Amino acid sequence: MTMSAPSRRLLLVDDDQDFAIATSRALALEGVDCLLAGDGAAARAALATNSIDVVLLDVRLGQEDGTELALQLKQSQPDLILVIMTAYASVDSAVAALQAGAYDYLRKPFFLDELMQVLKRCFELAQIRQDKLRIEQELALHRKLEAVSQLATGLSHDFKNMLAVIRANLAVINDRLQQDDRLKPYASDALEATATATDLVAQLMDFARSGLRRDTRTDLGQTIAASVAMLSRSLCRDMQLTLHLPEQALISPIDSGQLESAIANLLINARDATSGRGTVWIRLQSVWQGGLYARLTVEDDGPGLSPEELGHALEPRFTTKPDGMGLGLPMIRQLALVYSGSFRIENAASGGARAVLDLPCRCEVQGQEENM
Ligand SMILES: Nc1ncnc2c1ncn2[C@@H]1O[C@H](COP(=O)(O)OP(=O)(O)O)[C@@H](O)[C@H]1O
Ligand SMILES: [Mg+2]
Repeated sequence: MTMSAPSRRLLLVDDDQDFAIATSRALALEGVDCLLAGDGAAARAALATNSIDVVLLDVRLGQEDGTELALQLKQSQPDLILVIMTAYASVDSAVAALQAGAYDYLRKPFFLDELMQVLKRCFELAQIRQDKLRIEQELALHRKLEAVSQLATGLSHDFKNMLAVIRANLAVINDRLQQDDRLKPYASDALEATATATDLVAQLMDFARSGLRRDTRTDLGQTIAASVAMLSRSLCRDMQLTLHLPEQALISPIDSGQLESAIANLLINARDATSGRGTVWIRLQSVWQGGLYARLTVEDDGPGLSPEELGHALEPRFTTKPDGMGLGLPMIRQLALVYSGSFRIENAASGGARAVLDLPCRCEVQGQEENM
């Protein structure tokens, strides 16, 4: 998901340099980041290279027609919030400004207070639009997750049973064949493929399960330590796993099996990213975010994610691996949503990938539970 632009940035378009500089200084003190443009060309260039939501524009721009420029800017960026400055407070100039697509207009000269009141409304509107966009994107992703989940639930059970039958029969055939039988390689290839298929079905079922909330009482540190120890003996044998746990026990309602598959998914991703030989730091800590949360961070020393991968990694079926299912990260995201937590993946300062899972929790000190 793309980060939203800082919402208190403004482009001031005015050919009166003294006015523009004085206004931008005053606005800086109010926490508004102000870019300046002296004419239409500079305004267009600033808009093309910066993310700007609000433009304050003088209709009298030397030789240029500011109203015409306003129209052009709105055409190329319809979401732009335009405030037009006019020298006269006439009904005509107000109408012209609004017809040009302005959100509001100001009569020059004005007091900083007046300007700030107008800008405050503009920035609020920009913020609301950004929030709306973010919520729409989340909703679309959620719908996609739900669709895949339903499909997975419907199919994976039957598939698992059928695969078990195929596998058992193939194993019998394979056993009966002599080592030098020319059918032997075919039978073992088929067996291997069913093993992979069984693995994929297990991933699908994990994904389907991640949409269900099963409240239990899981000691996160204990579950994480056990999973990491198990994985360091098997799938992550040649990797260096470093685990940091907090002193106090963090208790969360998440199902321990669901947490185990989340950890396995993250460590397998780290293994894939580092050709099986990387270093991974796994940390559990408590953080306060208007309530107590347990934060699980899994960071590796692989190449990290490209901007394209960062934008899509949480979507179901997004994968850059030839045999990937693209369900690992969406599963964790869905799990986080179901338990009112959150999940994100980003690049650490060192360049490797860092996954961050926050889950609501309680803190337990020597057998006593503390609600923090
Ligand atoms: N630790 C990581 N380092 C680099 N890229 C990663 C990492 N974890 C996930 N990714 C990227 O995110 C994609 C989606 O991951 P995931 O949902 O687990 O599906 P899969 O592992 O099946 O590809 C991966 O294909 C990869 O491009
Ligand atoms: Mg994965």
